[in-house]
Amino acid sequence: MRAFAGDLPIVLEDASVVAGALTILDRVSLRLAAGAPTALIGPNGAGKTTLLRLAMGLIAPARGKVSWDGSESSSPTRRALMFQRPVMLRRSTAANIRYALAAAGVGRSERAARVSELLALVGLASLGERPARRLSGGEQQRLALARALAKDPAVLFLDEPTASLDPAATKAVEDVIRAVSSRGIKVVLATHDLGQARRLGGDIVLLHRGRVIEVSPAAAFFSNPKTPEARRFVAGELLV
Ligand SMILES: Nc1ncnc2c1ncn2[C@@H]1O[C@H](COP(=O)(O)OP(=O)(O)OP(=O)(O)O)[C@@H](O)[C@H]1O
Ligand SMILES: [Mg+2]
Repeated sequence: MRAFAGDLPIVLEDASVVAGALTILDRVSLRLAAGAPTALIGPNGAGKTTLLRLAMGLIAPARGKVSWDGSESSSPTRRALMFQRPVMLRRSTAANIRYALAAAGVGRSERAARVSELLALVGLASLGERPARRLSGGEQQRLALARALAKDPAVLFLDEPTASLDPAATKAVEDVIRAVSSRGIKVVLATHDLGQARRLGGDIVLLHRGRVIEVSPAAAFFSNPKTPEARRFVAGELLV
C-alpha cells in the first residue's frame, strides 16, 4: 500500500453549508495537512459529519471554497470515507474487500494479494471466509476500514469509527488507525470519545453549532483549552 501526497493540504476557506434556512456549517476555515490524525469533536448536531462530507468533496459549499492541494475540482479517487454506520455486503469478509478492490479499479490479478494484505492490516486474517454480517461490531468496523483502504487513499475520513464498541474493540480499531497513519495516510476522524481524540489526535478541531471554535494540538487542547466552549466541552458541560 502506498500513500500519495496529492490532495493535501485540504483547505476550507470561509466555507458554509446550508440546507434551506438552516446553516449547518458557518464560515469554516480549516487546513488539513499531512501528518498525525485530526480529530473533529463537538456535541451531536455540531456539523462533524457535514464537515467530513465537505472535505471529502461529496457536497459543495454554498459560499467560501474548498481546495485539495490547491485545486478546487479534485475527483475523490485518493480520498475515502467510512460512514457512521457501515453496511456489510451479504457475503464473506474477504469478498467484501474483493468487491471494494474491484470498485476501486484494482485488476483481477492483484486482488488476492491485496485482500490478504488488507485482512492482515486490520487483524482479520483468520476470519476471511466468515459471512461479514456475522462478524462482531468491532470486527465489522475493522472490515469497513479495510474496504475504505481498498482504493489506496491519501486521506481517510472516519465518522465515529468506534461508536458503540467496548474498550477492547475500540483499542483494536485505534491500533489499525495508528498503523494506517504511520503509513503516511492522513486520517481525519469525527469522534465523541474524548479519550480517543486525545490518544489519536495530532490536532483537535472543536465544532459547535456549525462553527470551528478551537483548533489546537491534542495535548494543549485538553490541558489548556483556550476558549470557554472548549473548557465546558472537556468538562462535559457543553451539550448542544
Ligand atoms: N441535508 C440536510 N438537511 C437538513 N439538515 C441537515 C442536513 N444534513 C445535516 N443536517 C443538520 O445539520 C446539523 C449537523 O449535522 P451533522 O450530521 O453534520 O452533525 P454531527 O456533528 O455529525 O452530529 P452527530 O454527533 O449526531 O453525528 C444537524 O442538526 C442535522 O440535523
Ligand atoms: Mg455525525
